[in-house]
Amino acid sequence: MKFNFSSYLDFMRPSEIRELAKYATSKDIISFGGGMPNPATFPKDRLKEIMVDVLDRDGDAALQYGNTAGLNSLREELVGFLKRTEGIDCAPEDIIITSGSQQALYAIGKLLCNPGDGVITEDPTYVGAISAFNANAIRMHGVPMDGQGVVVDVLEEKVRSLVSKGKAPRFIYLIPNFQNPTGRTLTEKRRQEVIRIASEYGIPVVEDNPYGELRYSGERVRSIRSLDGSVIYLGTFSKVMTPGLRLGYIVAPREVTEKVNLLKQALDLATNSFSQYVATEYIRRGIIYEQIRFNVELYRKRRDAMVRALREEMGDMADFSVPDGGMFIWVTLNNSVDTSRMLIDAIKAGVTYVSGQAFAPNGGHEHSMRLNFTFPSEEKIYEGVRRLRSVILSRAQEAVS
Ligand SMILES: Cc1ncc(COP(=O)(O)O)c(C=O)c1O
Repeated sequence: MKFNFSSYLDFMRPSEIRELAKYATSKDIISFGGGMPNPATFPKDRLKEIMVDVLDRDGDAALQYGNTAGLNSLREELVGFLKRTEGIDCAPEDIIITSGSQQALYAIGKLLCNPGDGVITEDPTYVGAISAFNANAIRMHGVPMDGQGVVVDVLEEKVRSLVSKGKAPRFIYLIPNFQNPTGRTLTEKRRQEVIRIASEYGIPVVEDNPYGELRYSGERVRSIRSLDGSVIYLGTFSKVMTPGLRLGYIVAPREVTEKVNLLKQALDLATNSFSQYVATEYIRRGIIYEQIRFNVELYRKRRDAMVRALREEMGDMADFSVPDGGMFIWVTLNNSVDTSRMLIDAIKAGVTYVSGQAFAPNGGHEHSMRLNFTFPSEEKIYEGVRRLRSVILSRAQEAVS
């Protein structure tokens, strides 16, 4: 049998991250590669209690198909959670529960773009967003970032130029808090500017905020959605409960959630009912707030360890900024070493990372890499950075000789 695949496949490429995931579990390899929460943060005992209660009390419904928009009680709990954490005002009907925020990214791309349409992204941006947009044959127009997040002057210029060519971008996709992969946070001033540009040119903003609750230093910055009710906001339980239960959500104007609802009827009918019952209790019992505090304490130490290790081992070889939260540090080498080509040497030396190119919507970032600090222990972080230093040095020497 010859299978004739669709031309959407032309846009899809395998993810280096998925390939690397297998090394994350190998004992001798220190993985800075995954985007994985530390399993020590999984609240297993509390979840066990909740799961037993859910099965005893609501078992028939929790094991049954559910509403496409999501469990009403979970959407009600989320209203309170979003108000308390992000200052977002919304009603349960403004929320649709998704199978992780990854599904939300795919759905939003599919619903707002025709094949060949363009969107604005940060450059670099989340590799899973690149996959979701590629799968819908969407072009990405990356806008560079600096220490304050995406550079809004360049963003406005890009929007203006695309609009003048009759190719208005269909939305602006941003990860304003502790961005994946750079760890940078968009300042409030720039958030306000993004809102102005979006409203002036009539272009929706998609705000993806998986890391917002994982802040280790600095002041909280208000979410873009809390400043403008027309923003499409994406949230997830992956970093504050567990990623394995695959729960995310979209907060958006009703005309958007209604269309997502239609698409979900084709994608999966509804999100996992059992996970939604569990998440409802997880918020209702206040465990989510305890867990966030626990995760922040654990991850702050890991971030500090990685920053110290990088300063000590790579101070002269690389640039990086200290993220106020999230899971990643973006390191750019001062020499001409290509991090993608270096990866195989790094794996042989017992350390992994994701090379910058994986996050490039339009190419580039050959000398950068994303390091995850939430998965390895502090000891492993030091050892991993030391291994990385020696791999970089030997690569740099090869380049010279
Ligand atoms: C920026 C960003 N968006 C979305 C996701 C997807 O998360 P999930 O599908 O687990 O909710 C991730 C996961 O790492 C992410 O970093």
